[in-house]
Amino acid sequence: MSGRRYAADELMGLDPADQRPLLARYDLGRAAQSLSRESIASRRSGGLWRWHELLPVRSWESVVYLGEGDTPLQPASRLASWLGLARLNVKRDSLNPTGSFKARGMAVAVSRAVELGARRLVAPSAGNAGGALAAYAAAAGVDATVVMPADAPMANQAEVLATGAELILLEGLISDCGRLARLIAEETGAFDLSTLKEPYRVEGKKTMGFELAEQLDWKLPDAIVYPTGGGTGIVGMWKAFEELEAIGLIGAERPRMYCVQADGCAPLVRAFREGARFAEPWANASTAASGLRVPSAVGDFLILDALRESGGSAVAVAESDLAGMQGRLGALGLGYVSLETAAAAAGLRVLVESGLVSRDETVVLFDTGAGFKSEAITLPSPPRIPNDEEVWRQKVLPGLMPPGGGSKRSTARPSG
Ligand SMILES: Cc1ncc(COP(=O)(O)O)c(C=O)c1O
Repeated sequence: MSGRRYAADELMGLDPADQRPLLARYDLGRAAQSLSRESIASRRSGGLWRWHELLPVRSWESVVYLGEGDTPLQPASRLASWLGLARLNVKRDSLNPTGSFKARGMAVAVSRAVELGARRLVAPSAGNAGGALAAYAAAAGVDATVVMPADAPMANQAEVLATGAELILLEGLISDCGRLARLIAEETGAFDLSTLKEPYRVEGKKTMGFELAEQLDWKLPDAIVYPTGGGTGIVGMWKAFEELEAIGLIGAERPRMYCVQADGCAPLVRAFREGARFAEPWANASTAASGLRVPSAVGDFLILDALRESGGSAVAVAESDLAGMQGRLGALGLGYVSLETAAAAAGLRVLVESGLVSRDETVVLFDTGAGFKSEAITLPSPPRIPNDEEVWRQKVLPGLMPPGGGSKRSTARPSG
């Protein structure tokens, strides 16, 4: 925002001039010499690192690769017809190595921070970013400290501990964790990898935008629907499209970007509606979708700018819809998705019903995380049965018989 430029080869946090995010700039003319539709198609392995010309890591030896990126873009025909859409694709970022899209940002940010000399890393996290930081720090052989709200999902706590990182559980929100992470960085010399407080996590996330363009044969969709907390997914993809256009891989068309939040924590939705450039912090933030429990985002103006420039919008979904939508997506064949993904799908439903997204448009819905990583919500509890075949025959089989009665197989018991 200050417009100042800084050398790329030193560790940087926020812009010292105005304490706002710094964004990486590339020699795009040089990138265009080797990055073409054909060259990218010929790179069959390497995940998001296939786009190395537009990533900040200088040497291949510094790359910490666990398989991140190149996630499938899948047509979701049953969900599409339930929503009344003709062309819906789901970007399966839950298939990343740590079970969420956060792997992309941490892969790039950890690789670059270590390349620039960092040996101790720290970050606040709603859950998934902490797990990803821990995994990539371990792979890079450096120390990591993760500060999570004490009510962060157990799966996220476990993955941090399993990699040998330090886990601090704080009785507060992610913004409070951010304050502690900053203090740890200032006092111990650890490098702070908080969302958008250093320039490279967003670089990893922008690869979602590159992949979408490639997967849709270089024609971006009409609308992208994304569950949003700190907002680096939206900011990253918007930056990706600008870079792809600058090197001639796509034209000037852009998708409408829609951010989805939960009604218990929707600072961006409120700011969007009020026409504000910055979002006021949300008081008493609460939602079971822990990744969306972000009362204020340091990159708020970048997210809001992208939504507005794209002609998109921001929608809040009812907390009470999340669990039902998670089950609905599972039943419609998407597998066990996170509550954040469920929020995005509920947001898409609102957008279709309100006419903001029309039925014949090409839409991409982001599945940002696996259900295993969200805190389990209350599901109907299945009956427990004893280990006794007699009981199985009397109590279990009758409920599983196909309509119309008898089984096709013999009911005779095997002899002997
Ligand atoms: C599964 C999942 N989806 C979405 C988000 C929101 O992402 P962002 O903070 O980049 O907006 C998070 C953040 O933790 C997340 O874990």
